[in-house]
Amino acid sequence: MTYLTNDNYKIYGDFPLTIEANKNQNLNLLVAWLHQEKKRVAKALLEHGAIRFRHFDISTPEAFEKVARAIAPILKNDYLGTSPRDAVTDYVFHASELPGYFPIPQHCEMSFCANPPEFLFFSAMNPSEQNSGETPICDMREVWRQMDPHVQERFSARGMKNVRNYSAPGAPAGDQMQLKSWDEMFQSTDKAIVEKKCEEEGFEPEWKEDGGLRLWGTQKVSKQHPLSGIEAWYNHLAVFHVSSPVGEYQRICNFRPTANNESILEMARSLEKSMREKPAEDLSMHTFYEDGSEIPEEDIEHVRDLIWKNLHVSAWQKGDVLAIDNASVSHGRLPYKNEDREILVCWS
Ligand SMILES: [Fe+2]
Repeated sequence: MTYLTNDNYKIYGDFPLTIEANKNQNLNLLVAWLHQEKKRVAKALLEHGAIRFRHFDISTPEAFEKVARAIAPILKNDYLGTSPRDAVTDYVFHASELPGYFPIPQHCEMSFCANPPEFLFFSAMNPSEQNSGETPICDMREVWRQMDPHVQERFSARGMKNVRNYSAPGAPAGDQMQLKSWDEMFQSTDKAIVEKKCEEEGFEPEWKEDGGLRLWGTQKVSKQHPLSGIEAWYNHLAVFHVSSPVGEYQRICNFRPTANNESILEMARSLEKSMREKPAEDLSMHTFYEDGSEIPEEDIEHVRDLIWKNLHVSAWQKGDVLAIDNASVSHGRLPYKNEDREILVCWS
């Protein structure tokens, strides 16, 4: 659906809503327009959950940051997620340093933290080749609305508990699922600082004999949007559960059946088999019901099916900026091969 078209730009689509310049526009014009139309843009972001800006000559991290700040003036730069993430400026990061084959299932950013981002912004400095490396998004309000009421009731009544195991500073690389070390995650080797941050974000730290850090945390499975009041599926089950790489790659193979994807699925299956031999509390990441019991696999599969049913996948174009309301809409990543793909992220 086209909402508006004039000499300079057109607005079309529902998810994401796209604002596209008819020809490359000066970045400053976009920033001025965003300030001028602040209320309208905020309303659109609340309703649609995601807005994409295209053909606005956004070619540097600084330009990207300017656009993000025109929507959310105060950006944050403490990152307590699981992806290795290198800084490009003080507030702009590479979206993930994880290898291109590594699955990143849908999640609302830092959903397991007490203070998760309000808005998330991505920008494509260099998209990957065709049919790879997209950043799919999913409207988690729809996932919640469409969920089988029995499954929804079980999740709501029982809540979630997450465990993450971070390695000791300087520890040798473990298996492919090994998370970064805790000093990298917290940007400090001072245990008192780590413990204070854990308290602020609602994590329960457990120092391990090998120098690693186990973090426990609980979360509700859904969240009401602070402004719209609409409930959304809001947790990290699809990323943290031990079955996630296989569950995600099975669907990636259905969506994009290539020999490479099939062989990674096989690798993921044997990796999961070996991971399931470990005690669950020693897994790099895992999710239980809040009482520590295992979540039925069929309920998790139901959620994955709903997420993929509601997934929006579209190719990046160089200079695109995607703004996401993190309380309503999740994001992920599809596999890619080319090393020079460059997608940036910042958040408020
Ligand atoms: Fe993320």
